[in-house]
Amino acid sequence: MTVPTARLFFRFLFLSLFLAPLCPSHVTSQARPPETISRDVCIIGGGASGVYTAMRLRQQNISVVVIEAKGRLGGHTNTYIDPGSGTPIDFGVALFQDSSETVDFFAQLNVSLSRSMPVGGILQRIDFRTGESVAPNPGNASEALARYTAVLQRHPYLAEGWNLPDDIPEDLLMSFGQLAKKYDLGPVMETISLYTQGVRSWLDYPAVYLLKFMSLDLVTSLRQGFLQASGHGSSELYQAALRLLGGDVLLRSVVVAASRTGDEGQGQGQGQGHELTVQTEDEQVVTVQAALTILAVPPKGPVLEGFDLDAHEATLFGHFLNGHYYVGLVRVPHYPSGLQLLNRGAHTPYGLPRLPCTFSVAATAVPDIVTVSYVSEEPRSAEEVQQAVGEDILRVLGRERQDDEEPRFVAFADHSPFEMSVSREAIEGRFYDRLNGLQGHRNTFYVGATWEYPGSSPIWRAVDRLLPAIIRRLEGFQGR
Ligand SMILES: Cc1cc2nc3c(=O)[nH]c(=O)nc-3n(C[C@H](O)[C@H](O)[C@H](O)COP(=O)(O)OP(=O)(O)OC[C@H]3O[C@@H](n4cnc5c(N)ncnc54)[C@H](O)[C@@H]3O)c2cc1C
Ligand SMILES: *[C@@H]1O[C@H](CO)[C@@H](O)[C@H](O)[C@H]1NC(C)=O
Ligand SMILES: *[C@@H]1O[C@H](CO)[C@@H](O)[C@H](O)[C@H]1NC(C)=O
Ligand SMILES: *[C@@H]1O[C@H](CO)[C@@H](O)[C@H](O)[C@H]1NC(C)=O
Repeated sequence: MTVPTARLFFRFLFLSLFLAPLCPSHVTSQARPPETISRDVCIIGGGASGVYTAMRLRQQNISVVVIEAKGRLGGHTNTYIDPGSGTPIDFGVALFQDSSETVDFFAQLNVSLSRSMPVGGILQRIDFRTGESVAPNPGNASEALARYTAVLQRHPYLAEGWNLPDDIPEDLLMSFGQLAKKYDLGPVMETISLYTQGVRSWLDYPAVYLLKFMSLDLVTSLRQGFLQASGHGSSELYQAALRLLGGDVLLRSVVVAASRTGDEGQGQGQGQGHELTVQTEDEQVVTVQAALTILAVPPKGPVLEGFDLDAHEATLFGHFLNGHYYVGLVRVPHYPSGLQLLNRGAHTPYGLPRLPCTFSVAATAVPDIVTVSYVSEEPRSAEEVQQAVGEDILRVLGRERQDDEEPRFVAFADHSPFEMSVSREAIEGRFYDRLNGLQGHRNTFYVGATWEYPGSSPIWRAVDRLLPAIIRRLEGFQGR
């Protein structure tokens, strides 16, 4: 079910609840007594950040409930199991930094990790619009990577959260295109574009976002290698978490109304705290009472509609822009083994493709199944993306459309909203100080990619840094 449909569906249900007293005979047959769930903390969103936060709080004997819109945990994690061979293919989150949070989290859930092996094969750079071959950017890539790394080392505070200095350096505020020119990064642009996939027309927006994403940790991982789930793909981590969290997770559930009272942690006694109305898939309404709420979803779109935003929160969240990122697996009969097709512009700066477009097509461990990605500034429907990708594949492979040989999607995921950013002016206006200042405001805390950058391990580290403040607030609130 797509999000807009879900929203309409829930709106309708909610409306019918309000109308219930007016037409009792219509409703009583289905009405069930509303269930109330009381926990210390309510976490909205069961992706990388929400699940990790839930596990860490439970370790501290703090009770939680996780509200997740989808029928599974893991967010951007997508694993397809090939029915023929049983081979898992991760076409969402696949690579993890070799860091203590990664190793400990996997160990806690008994999911095995191994070092990821460089995939061999052939890389072809092609302008997908025309099918013509594109030369790699000229120059020495390792020297350009060293220049890039030196920029990062001058701004070590970028490694953790958004704590920009009083006088924000121009290198962070200028567009990434200008930074690339200034430090002659052309030869390493392809590598950066591969590891920051899903980022939109990033030559045009503030360099700080690319510097955060392609971080020192990521550069280190490029040299030392990544870790990956070695059994049944990345989803195994979240399946294990679901088993462990059990009844503390409400799947296919969204918050449709909220009342977050009890402001600055001074509240005591009855009547204080948060009350969230949650609509579950089986048409049941659940009331969640909690001392604190943690938002583990990008603060954009439907998730905010059920939230009782105040003017300050609404103003801050209103600054965010985001891109649209789609991935999938496509069956392409007779696809050349090991072939990776990278969409490049024959006549664009650094050969970066113009959006919207198919970004790459790559062979997987299963013959004739390729992984594809598509990036856009504007939302696109699943049908539009799938059709564009199918046509690109045929054009690039130089094939005619034939019914029995047509590329066919076997899996698809829309990862929007992806890579939340604000304007240069907002950053200069100390947007991120005000965003950080939201932590704890109205007993609400925030975790996830928006507050760090899109990488599981840095997101988990950010949760660990925030935990003491969450626990302190809870102690103040409950007199525990
Ligand atoms: C295709 C792709 C590949 C990636 N690959 C990697 C990788 O290999 N390694 C890496 O480290 N990072 C990777 N990333 C980056 C990824 O963004 C982060 O690693 C991490 O998954 C982000 O976690 P999060 O908790 O912020 O968000 P998410 O994982 O998106 O979690 C948000 C959760 O909230 C749920 N939700 C949304 N709306 C609502 C609502 N209204 N109510 C309740 N729940 C809601 C969503 O369903 C989702 O489960 C990748 C990202 C994408 C898109
Ligand atoms: C949590 O509770 C268990 C069982 O009561 C106890 O053994 C453990 O020390 C507690 N942990 C913390 C962090 O308080
Ligand atoms: C992991 O395995 C250990 C030892 O086999 C076991 O004690 C523990 O309960 C398991 N944990 C989970 C989350 O399955
Ligand atoms: C690139 O530069 C590095 C370091 O200066 C050097 O060792 C390497 O040989 C160069 N590579 C090429 C292909 O010139």
